[in-house]
This record gives sequence, C-alpha cells and structure tokens, in this order.
Amino acid sequence: MQLKSQLLVAAAVVAGSVHLAQAHVFIWGVFVNGVDQGTFNGIRTPAYNGPPPRGYSNSPVKDLDSIDLRCNILGDKQVPHTIKVAPGDNITLDWHHNNRTVADDVIDFSHHGPAMVYLSPDPPAENSFVKIWEKGLYELGSAAFSPGKWATTSDIKANKGLMNFRVPAGLKAGFYLVRAEMVGLHEADARFDTVPWRGAQFYPNCVQIEVVGDGDVELPSGVSFPGAYKYSDPGVHYNIYCSTEVAPKLPCTDASTYQIPGPTVWSGAWPETTQVPLGPVSGETTATRWSSWIQQSVVTTATFVGTSPVVVATSTYKASWSATYAAPTPTA
Ligand SMILES: *[C@@H]1O[C@H](CO)[C@@H](O)[C@H](O)[C@H]1NC(C)=O
Ligand SMILES: *[C@@H]1O[C@H](CO)[C@@H](O)[C@H](O)[C@H]1NC(C)=O
Repeated sequence: MQLKSQLLVAAAVVAGSVHLAQAHVFIWGVFVNGVDQGTFNGIRTPAYNGPPPRGYSNSPVKDLDSIDLRCNILGDKQVPHTIKVAPGDNITLDWHHNNRTVADDVIDFSHHGPAMVYLSPDPPAENSFVKIWEKGLYELGSAAFSPGKWATTSDIKANKGLMNFRVPAGLKAGFYLVRAEMVGLHEADARFDTVPWRGAQFYPNCVQIEVVGDGDVELPSGVSFPGAYKYSDPGVHYNIYCSTEVAPKLPCTDASTYQIPGPTVWSGAWPETTQVPLGPVSGETTATRWSSWIQQSVVTTATFVGTSPVVVATSTYKASWSATYAAPTPTA
C-alpha cells in the first residue's frame, strides 16, 4: 500500500505538470548482462522539482558549483539496494522520462548533447570520479542550422533510453557509485553564470554498485563534482547549430568539432561497449516512485488518503554527503 500511495502521489504530480517543457530524464532501471535488476533498485532517483505550478528548478542542474551536479537533487541520500556486478559485466542503464516503456520519449528531441559515465568509490572523495565512457557529437549536420548527431538524441533517445558501459577489467571489489549523465546543449550558446535562464542543462544520476571478485585494479585519481566543469569549457559553452558542414549565418568559432566536458576516458576502461540482448523489465513501468518534491529547498513528502494527497512531513533540504560508507538495508 505504501508503494501504491507513493505512485499515486507521483501520478498526481506528473499529471499536473505536463505543461512543463523540461525533460527530467533519469534512470529507471539497470540491466546487468541483460538481466534487469528491478525498476529503481540501486538508483538514487532525483527529486522531482516541485508540484505545479513550478518548484525548485534544479533538475536539470545548470549551476556548475552546486553539489547537485554530483548526483542530482537528493543524490546524497543512500537507497536500500546496491547492485552486485563483476569486472567485465555489461551494464545497460535504462533512461526514461514519463514511463519505462518503448513509447516513452526519453528526452526532448531538442536536447542534443553528450553523454558520459563516471565511476567513483562510494562515498566519493576529492577527485574520485573517473570517466569510463563518453559519446558526444558523432556526425555533422548536412545543412545550416541542423545540429548533427549527438549521443543524447540520435543514440540514447533513438535506442529507447539505453546507455551502455562495462565494469572495468580487474576492478577491485568494493562499493562504487556510477555517475551517469546526459547533457542538453540546446541553450548552451549562453552561459548560465551570466544568463541564468539559459545555459547547458546537466542530467546526472547515480547508481550504487558493489563490485565483487578478486580484482586488484584500483581507480586512478579523477575529478570532483562539483569542480570538474567550468562555464568557459568549450564543451559547456557551445552552439550546437554551428556543428554543420554548411556554415550557418551565426558567429561560430567551433564549426566542426565538439570537445566533451570533463577529463579524458581512463585507459583502464573498456575501449568499446556493446549492446547485449536484454531480458524483460522487472518492476513498475508506468509510474514513478516519487513521494517527495522540493520547492525553495523544502522537501515535502505526501501519502494518499482515498484520492487526496496528505502531506506527512516537510523538511529543509541541504545535501549532506557522508564520508563513510553505510551498508544500505535491503528491502525484501
Ligand atoms: C560483455 O559483452 C562482450 C561483447 O559482446 C562479451 O564478449 C562479454 O563476454 C560480455 N561480458 C559478460 C560478462 O557477459
Ligand atoms: C509513456 O509516455 C509516453 C510519452 O513519453 C506516452 O506517449 C505513452 O503513452 C506513455 N505510456 C504509458 C503506458 O503510460
């Protein structure tokens, strides 16, 4: 009943906010070697950014100095499941928007941009996020103002939300956070620090994994979130409509290349990822589990009595990352 109530809250929140143009793409499920681990299991689902008319608009994250750039809003909160994986496993992240179905639009068609996957020990420390996969602009557009092919739209959206990476060979056993990210560059010709109503839109989402086995490869030092990206980075402040073979009539300085934000991919990561065949989805597909939302940093949690939402608690949210790993309590 608890879950049902939460789903009803979510349905009400979603139904009331369909007019919002933001994409709110996030991870709904994780497949390990093609086997679904169960909808939302192990995933630190970002809080919805407020019931209608409009809440705390930090999903997407645009402030590069915000702690929310690490794992999105509420990304500091551990979830009960941790997904067990082994080095060499093929992981498929299942990104969606409104529901976990093939009919879902995943991300708005305008949100062209790169996609990345980072890995960090959990909990993260200074400079602990290591990039293990990335994809950006991979085919130029053929006409003026056509943006070309991008990871978020031409790859992940076109492939029904699927993003693939592989657990690094020989990776030492332990708890890790996967920080996967989609970036919408449709307004990235402006910088958020000077034009706060526009700028690049970051959709980070984290997954808790436990690597098992007797590997002895340690992650090298990496980057910090926040910290890894700057407003002046060529891959953050970028006009996607310059990426065409036919030069558009805009002042473009970067017509043919795109430099993905952040560090280079670690040499210990797999050079290639493959889409392995996927088994059936296990768990909820048509509603989110959101039971709380954030407005002006106030988290509201609601339950349902009949068809009416009843607020059970409010609290002020300030991300607080633990420095020590606390084994999550698995739910049955
Ligand atoms: C992962 O995919 C690769 C390429 O298809 C395959 O060779 C490998 O055996 C897969 N790994 C596992 C653990 O299934
Ligand atoms: C899922 O969401 C898409 C829009 O993203 C919508 O077209 C489709 O009807 C929805 N399906 C279900 C089962 O709710």
